[in-house]
Amino acid sequence: MTVNGRDPDGGRLEAAASTEPPGSASVVARRDGAPAEDPHGGSSRSEAEASPDHQHWFEPVAEHLGSAYLRYSFTKGTVQEVEFLVRELGLQPGMRVLDVGCGPGRHAHELARRGLAVHGIDISERFVELARADAPAGATFERMDARDLAFEAEFDLVICLCQGAFGLMTANDDDERVLSGMASALRPGGRLALSAFNAYFAVKYFDGEGEGRSTFDADTGVNHEHTEVRSETGASKTVDLWTGCYTPRELRVLCRAAGLVVESVNSVEPGAYALATPTVETAEFLVVARRA
Ligand SMILES: C[S@@+](CC[C@H](N)C(=O)[O-])C[C@H]1O[C@@H](n2cnc3c(N)ncnc32)[C@H](O)[C@@H]1O
Repeated sequence: MTVNGRDPDGGRLEAAASTEPPGSASVVARRDGAPAEDPHGGSSRSEAEASPDHQHWFEPVAEHLGSAYLRYSFTKGTVQEVEFLVRELGLQPGMRVLDVGCGPGRHAHELARRGLAVHGIDISERFVELARADAPAGATFERMDARDLAFEAEFDLVICLCQGAFGLMTANDDDERVLSGMASALRPGGRLALSAFNAYFAVKYFDGEGEGRSTFDADTGVNHEHTEVRSETGASKTVDLWTGCYTPRELRVLCRAAGLVVESVNSVEPGAYALATPTVETAEFLVVARRA
């Protein structure tokens, strides 16, 4: 998911005016279900509030969005992204894949259609329901918190794409927990494909552009915006959106600490995955790593 409603074409979506929801990461709410707060420990509050059933701030935004999530332009490149992974990682029918923060299952579905056995997990019950609803054979889904992954050497590939759990709560070390669980889920030699938002890009294009625009916290690497998201029926909801942003060096250090060998870090855009040297000019980095 891209921050600040930025369209993959390079344009910016104006949340209130667009029929397409703005792309971004997160509504901030405490894990105990208390009203939303700044993850840095500050006093900023979102209009969105989590219910006591919510374990994560993203759940209320996913419930509001429902299938409208799939209207974001950044979700339209799924086939290209999956074809890139199949080609570059040499994926074969029968391989086992774990999709972490799978959302409505767009990558899991495409991989399953190519004969892979995919298990998708997501914190949002609403998104898990959507993923199950039209799942092809070979794709299964369950609600699970990516911070508590308990798989042991079960998968040939783990994917975590478009800030699927990684990069949505950077300030409190959750990303390290998510990464460690993904590494453990891989069999030795198994690969991880992980996308993360480009910190350089966030600073260059989003930071400090005035009222209502996003700001980048250099201390935590978290980008913040206050915007609106629209439901399937067009109902608007104002939310705070937070995205943990990374440099390639940080991603390499984190992967190494999790027992992963980084094979490449690539500059990519949604729908335009490629092997490409990191630059400041793309919204995301795609890490390919393998379990030692
Ligand atoms: C921006 S969406 C990306 C979804 C999907 N990977 C895609 O490419 O469309 C982020 C997803 O991560 C999920 N998520 C966030 N935190 C999570 C957590 N702690 N455990 C599991 N899923 C989580 C959200 O519910 C949401 O579906």
